[in-house]
Amino acid sequence: MNYQIINSFINKLDPELAHSLAIQLLKNFYTPLFPSKDDEILKINILGKEFLNPIGVAAGFDKNAEVYDKMFQLGYGFAEVGTITPKSQEGNSKPRVFRLIEDKAIINRLGFPNQGLVKVKSRIETKRAEGILGINIGPNKDSASRIDDYVECFKNFHNLCAYICINISSPNTENLRNFHEEENLKKLLSEIANVRKILNSKTPVVLKISPDINDSDIDMICKNIIEFNLDGLVLTNTSVRLRENLINKQKNETGGLSGPPIKQTSNLIIKKFFKIIKKKVPIIGVGGIDSGISAYEKIRAGASLLQLYTGLIYKGPFVITTIKQQLAELLRRDGFSSLQKAVGVDSE
Ligand SMILES: Cc1cc2nc3c(=O)[nH]c(=O)nc-3n(C[C@H](O)[C@H](O)[C@H](O)COP(=O)(O)O)c2cc1C
Repeated sequence: MNYQIINSFINKLDPELAHSLAIQLLKNFYTPLFPSKDDEILKINILGKEFLNPIGVAAGFDKNAEVYDKMFQLGYGFAEVGTITPKSQEGNSKPRVFRLIEDKAIINRLGFPNQGLVKVKSRIETKRAEGILGINIGPNKDSASRIDDYVECFKNFHNLCAYICINISSPNTENLRNFHEEENLKKLLSEIANVRKILNSKTPVVLKISPDINDSDIDMICKNIIEFNLDGLVLTNTSVRLRENLINKQKNETGGLSGPPIKQTSNLIIKKFFKIIKKKVPIIGVGGIDSGISAYEKIRAGASLLQLYTGLIYKGPFVITTIKQQLAELLRRDGFSSLQKAVGVDSE
């Protein structure tokens, strides 16, 4: 059946119900018929790993690490699960996810609902990843010390994954984005540096950033990620801005906007970071990818790896096949012999 037909049915359901149905279907009923093959041109070595293709599942889709193995089987190059907090929590009250169908966008104010680190950890331990797994961590809403929460998650997860993503950019946990201020960021990153040292952890650590920042924030963040030896950046999370040009009547719902309406802003931020840090600190580009062209734009802007969430909701999980095919074609059309060679060519 065509995904457009399935999607017109899904669009009639409550978005959270549709999402949990999709997770249950993937978890219990999906088995791939053919192993997915990757074009050689899409291979890239980043964060100490060889990625067979650069396109991953963004955080928030598989919050409790239930289907990442299925996403690898579908052909995603990697998957980031979470955000996971130390204790389980319910998140904000419902409704809290809005599909802006005319805009192909989503607004969410979920507030990190998740089963907590003990449960998610034991799930990951019993289902060791046969692909590249990232774990996205964050603090509980009612935490006494947010930094301690990040450290606790780091300790528990660092040896179960290919990288840890420190999420400081969700707009739905009050004041979380204050970690974009220098003093708070330094405190957080120095505690993470300490725990990495104590545990002698070699697991790469990346930081996920908000799109709602200004140029001086970018300079300051670059300085600090280099000072504290971070291994990468995820650019970007959802936006609390960019509502002017939206069509859907739910456009002013509180929360983070995702999908094509944030693509240009996210690309611009990638370009600005890339200009400063070049290839020293790799960028995972996310925000509005739903086709080979939008994936290619982010690579040219400076991203070495990519992620998507909203595109996967609107076009279905099999969209990965089309994106990979189109991306490989675009690279060849423009004379690149590898993905790596196209990274950042538009950043000047
Ligand atoms: C419903 C929903 C839930 C999300 N939950 C998380 C989350 O828990 N942690 C996180 O770092 N990002 C979360 N995100 C943000 C995505 O990972 C991504 O950064 C953002 O949606 C932009 O990408 P997209 O346009 O491809 O969706 C969420 C996004 C959506 C739409």
